[in-house]
Amino acid sequence: MEFSIKALAPESATGCAVLGVFSGAGAGRELTAPAKRIDQKSNGAIGKALRDLPAKTGATLLLRELRGIVAERVLLVSLGERDEFGEAAFRDAVRGAAAALKELGARDAALYLVDVRVGRRHVSWNLRHAVLGMRDAFYRFDHLKTQKKPPAPALENVVLPLSPGAQLQAALREASATADGVELARTLGNLPPNVCTPAYLAAEAQKLARQFKLELEVLERRDMEKLGMGALLAVTRASHQPPKLIVLRYSGGARSRKPLVLVGKGITFDTGGISLKPAGEMDEMKFDMSGAGSVLGALRALAGMRAPLNVIGVMPACENMPGGAASRPGDIVTTLSGQTVEILNTDAEGRLILCDALSYAARFEPDVVVDIATLTGACVIALGHVASGLWANEQKLADELRAAADDAWDRVWQMPLWEDYQEQLRSNFADFANIGGRPAGSITAASFLARFTKKLRWAHLDIAGTAWKSGREKGSTGRPVPLLVRFALRHAGRK
Ligand code: BES
Ligand code: MN
Ligand code: ZN
Repeated sequence: MEFSIKALAPESATGCAVLGVFSGAGAGRELTAPAKRIDQKSNGAIGKALRDLPAKTGATLLLRELRGIVAERVLLVSLGERDEFGEAAFRDAVRGAAAALKELGARDAALYLVDVRVGRRHVSWNLRHAVLGMRDAFYRFDHLKTQKKPPAPALENVVLPLSPGAQLQAALREASATADGVELARTLGNLPPNVCTPAYLAAEAQKLARQFKLELEVLERRDMEKLGMGALLAVTRASHQPPKLIVLRYSGGARSRKPLVLVGKGITFDTGGISLKPAGEMDEMKFDMSGAGSVLGALRALAGMRAPLNVIGVMPACENMPGGAASRPGDIVTTLSGQTVEILNTDAEGRLILCDALSYAARFEPDVVVDIATLTGACVIALGHVASGLWANEQKLADELRAAADDAWDRVWQMPLWEDYQEQLRSNFADFANIGGRPAGSITAASFLARFTKKLRWAHLDIAGTAWKSGREKGSTGRPVPLLVRFALRHAGRK
């Protein structure tokens, strides 16, 4: 799908012209300027059809072969009430339009609704969200199905009818690269755990390294042993898949600039280990590498748009399996930091691989470290599937992430990291335990990580509720790639 920015009169658009319509008070309707224009050119054809357009935001109505215009088809999209129109409504409208275009099998479209004013956002915000919304809707993961139906949708060219300029071109480049990154993260998440192994993730990193000239280093089990990554090694013990610590570096900024380090949890399958998970929905634990997937996605996006910044992805990748060689509840391990941990529950494995990766991250003398992990079921209970959990050991960093998340509409909600919670991790036998009981489960997980990041400016994102969907729509979402990209760009721009 190719996007282009060009000034294009609505009556001259080819293929399908997509036009926005507000619903006013009562049964009244208000045409956006391009819709008005086509209405005039077509002898009032839009006005006559409006009755059949449902008022719900994102609802669509297709009109064919109107007189006086070039486009064969016109797609009306309801924008909802003018007074309630905002970021959410804009995104719903784009999604509605995308769904209709997919259904139609349209080849060419001109998205006139990209021009509507969204609160105080610059039109480049509209552009980014239009591109991401369209690309998202047309994503497919069906190469493992032998009977593909329906056939691949055909939308090839999408015109964004705006007057071209450097700022909009940059927004388009950013959005297209971000969509590529989201797609990569989604596909890695969706791949089955017998395909997407730690070695597969390392090979994927290798591909990115070649394509975008990134530096790659992969630490093997021997390296982890030499370094003393006792926590990471404890998790991988019973797996037949060799663990990998993937370090992928993009240097687009000045050499003197300290890097942003993104640390992503890469458990390619989480059985729970000896603290075995129940069978129901265990398949979803293939998504437990989504943190690492989002780091690869963000790197792909930032390298793809040649962002002027330095970022390093650190991805501990392994499986959490039961077996004769597995770690036991009660085992005590020495982490890379030197601190000892009593493993009271082998299913709290994410924090074990992350703590060693976070200690390792310190060697890059980072400006900021952000870890991303499908860490706790408790976070899903707290925030559902809407917001990712956010913790930070510096408020300014939390505020920056929150603003970037709102901008990207890939939202987060901050949770506390108070010292009071540390008490729950007390152990009689080691420095502390890897679980803190049922209360505040996502907070005690973050508190565990905080013990390894005291010397860093650090934030933690728990994406257990946002990285994938369950049920009929089961699949990876690609979140939080849009947030990570927007944060990296905003953060680099402010200094
Ligand atoms: N990968 C899971 C977290 C998870 C669970 C994500 C359900 C999405 C849905 C993580 O490794 C885990 O098992 N966490 C445990 C921690 C507990 C043992 C303290 C959990 O959340 O139950
Ligand atoms: Mn687990
Ligand atoms: Zn896990």
